[in-house]
Amino acid sequence: MKKLGLGVLGLGEGRSIISAALNSRLWKVAQICDLDQELGRARCREFNLDNFTASFDELLANKEVDVVGIYTPDPLHAGHVLQALRASKHVICTKPFLNDLSRAREVIEEQRRSGKVVLVGQSTRFFAPFMRQRRHFESGAFGEIATVEACYNADHRWFLKKGWAKTEAFKWLYGGLSHPVDLVRWYLPHIVEVMGYSSLSKNGRELGLAHPDTFQFVSGPGPEFRRASAARTTAR
Ligand SMILES: NC(=O)c1ccc[n+]([C@@H]2O[C@H](COP(=O)([O-])OP(=O)(O)OC[C@H]3O[C@@H](n4cnc5c(N)ncnc54)[C@H](O)[C@@H]3O)[C@@H](O)[C@H]2O)c1
Repeated sequence: MKKLGLGVLGLGEGRSIISAALNSRLWKVAQICDLDQELGRARCREFNLDNFTASFDELLANKEVDVVGIYTPDPLHAGHVLQALRASKHVICTKPFLNDLSRAREVIEEQRRSGKVVLVGQSTRFFAPFMRQRRHFESGAFGEIATVEACYNADHRWFLKKGWAKTEAFKWLYGGLSHPVDLVRWYLPHIVEVMGYSSLSKNGRELGLAHPDTFQFVSGPGPEFRRASAARTTAR
């Protein structure tokens, strides 16, 4: 079987997909890319690679690259996903896929036009314990789901050392909440109502965050879930 050629854009968190691809018999790392040339050289040394470029255009023109893994700062994802699709590449983009909805329609249309696969990578659902939990659910071992509780609590003070994390464009609403929201919607896809609260913590305030970093939400399943539930109850 021909191995899929991976191009990686953004070599901070992008390090993880390089490592995964090098440990897989299905992938080869065709090219890696970052504006930071020193980081590029460091990753080449770390993984024994010699295919670094500082030019995304060069990576997109590389015929060995079938799939582009996107690991640039959140506000750049939409533009990079569009560029990759226009160059006829499949896309794996880390979460948060988009950090607002302003270009969502454009991205959906470009994906449809290109016929290429777009996958949001590195969300919690791909972690081993969550995949195992899902297998138990699909086997029927958990019975019918009435409610899902998901959380994502972490000390992210280290993350706020990144310059872009303190800009107006960076939002934990997408960056952090995407993990538990994805898990909830995996099990209860028909959410129609959401209510909640947000606030900016002392840590976030002191470290210069522009948007809230603390959220609590309750969401309600829509009529499809309630109808299915009622039908099951009537049948019993
Ligand atoms: N899945 C997860 O749980 C998880 C964890 C950490 C980070 N992330 C996400 O990964 C992404 C990257 O985060 P990070 O921590 O690596 O940030 P980072 O700032 O450390 O790294 C981003 C890299 O992208 C490079 N870059 C920026 N613009 C570029 C461009 N136009 N062309 C080429 N390279 C460019 C920068 O030079 C930098 O090296 C973010 O979207 C972040 O939210 C996801």
